[in-house]
Amino acid sequence: MTDQSSNQMWGGRFAAGPDAIMEAINASIGFDKRMAAQDIAGSRAHAAMLAATGVITDNDAEAIREGLLTVLSEIEGGTFQFSTALEDIHMNVEARLKEIIGEPAGRLHTGRSRNDQVATDFKLWVRDQLDAAESGLLALIRALLSQAEAGADWVMPGFTHLQTAQPVTWGHHMMAYVEMFGRDLSRVRDARVRMNESPLGSAALAGTSFPIDREMTASALGFDRPTANSLDAVSDRDFALEFLSVASICAMHLSRFAEELVIWSSAQFRFVTLSDRFSTGSSIMPQKKNPDAAELIRAKVGRIFGANTALMMVMKGLPLAYSKDMQEDKEQVFDAADNWMLALAAMEGMVKDMSANRESLAAAAGSGFSTATDLADWLVRVLKVPFRDAHHVTGTLVAMAENRGCDLPDLTLEDMQGVHAGITEDIFSVLGVENSVSSRMSYGGTAPAQVRAQVARWKEVLAG
Ligand code: ARG
Repeated sequence: MTDQSSNQMWGGRFAAGPDAIMEAINASIGFDKRMAAQDIAGSRAHAAMLAATGVITDNDAEAIREGLLTVLSEIEGGTFQFSTALEDIHMNVEARLKEIIGEPAGRLHTGRSRNDQVATDFKLWVRDQLDAAESGLLALIRALLSQAEAGADWVMPGFTHLQTAQPVTWGHHMMAYVEMFGRDLSRVRDARVRMNESPLGSAALAGTSFPIDREMTASALGFDRPTANSLDAVSDRDFALEFLSVASICAMHLSRFAEELVIWSSAQFRFVTLSDRFSTGSSIMPQKKNPDAAELIRAKVGRIFGANTALMMVMKGLPLAYSKDMQEDKEQVFDAADNWMLALAAMEGMVKDMSANRESLAAAAGSGFSTATDLADWLVRVLKVPFRDAHHVTGTLVAMAENRGCDLPDLTLEDMQGVHAGITEDIFSVLGVENSVSSRMSYGGTAPAQVRAQVARWKEVLAG
């Protein structure tokens, strides 16, 4: 006799129900209920296919279809009673289906296992998130393009080692992030293509003896084709790992940009003003306006990359095929996805609302001898001085200016000629920052004309 408390879905061979601790460690319903819509979509496709192949009757399939729609509306309406004893979303849905339609519910699981079911549901869920990430990235890229277009010729200091290096344009700096998020976008799209194969019908691990049509369920669920090896299909979580690694790289990009915004919005830099909508105040210091959104975005990479590492460690060393270890995949991915989408949306909001302080950018652009390279290049171009010698002459002039506490353009022609006799008045024409940036016309360079060309190219890419 089976104990009353043994599991109604698999308790046939059990004399007693699980210990409370066993139930607690085993249950995933607390989190996998987020895949309810995907689970029901998968079951609907499976039932329709079972009827089409004659495995179940059309009447049963119709009852299952109607019943699943009722379950879905109960879940969406918040009236569904989730049960920990029923472990996961798959068994919660099926048990409720049985309450609603009776016997035909028991035929739904023909030619299927929770192993291919969970792989299918989770893939569908991750695929939805890749689509959401694509929209989020596109919106962010558009916001950056507007910034770049508005300030294609605004000069600002460019940095290496966070020390003033050479003047660049605001538009160029914005477009650097367009390139980064553009690569993230292409990684998102690549990952989606690679993952888009249906595990459904792989059953527990070996496939099934029922005459199922895997092409049919694959196409009903928007997959390109069924997976080609049932052992692999039920034990593969590469799609989740790929999602997390794409998310990690993107979160790292977001973090770098967030860091720049934190620095740029400080009183010492004043390069940008973040909007009140994306800043917070201090409860004690009335003057404060803190870039909290940027700081939180800067931090998000921690948990997202953490999820990537955690799932990699869960999967490491698992023998084929399914093992329960793999139930530990979802919380990591759910948390990473939520935070990635939030970070993308917050960054888009900040970029849309922020204003660059053109005057502060320009004032800083010329500081720190930022046109020293232009001076050296002039010596090479006009006087045919070898670059290494030109570098040395320029260094001497920089040291002279530094001693006097002035900038390079403030030195006199006599000062310059004292270091290199061939220098003429013409050299002053390259010491201005505007001139410096507009001379950098090499492809991908910072010249406003190059920046505008890249903005135009990206607009075409996005429109195409
Ligand atoms: N809740 C399980 C998971 O998330 C579903 C698959 C369980 N399969 C099994 N044979 N116990 O991985």
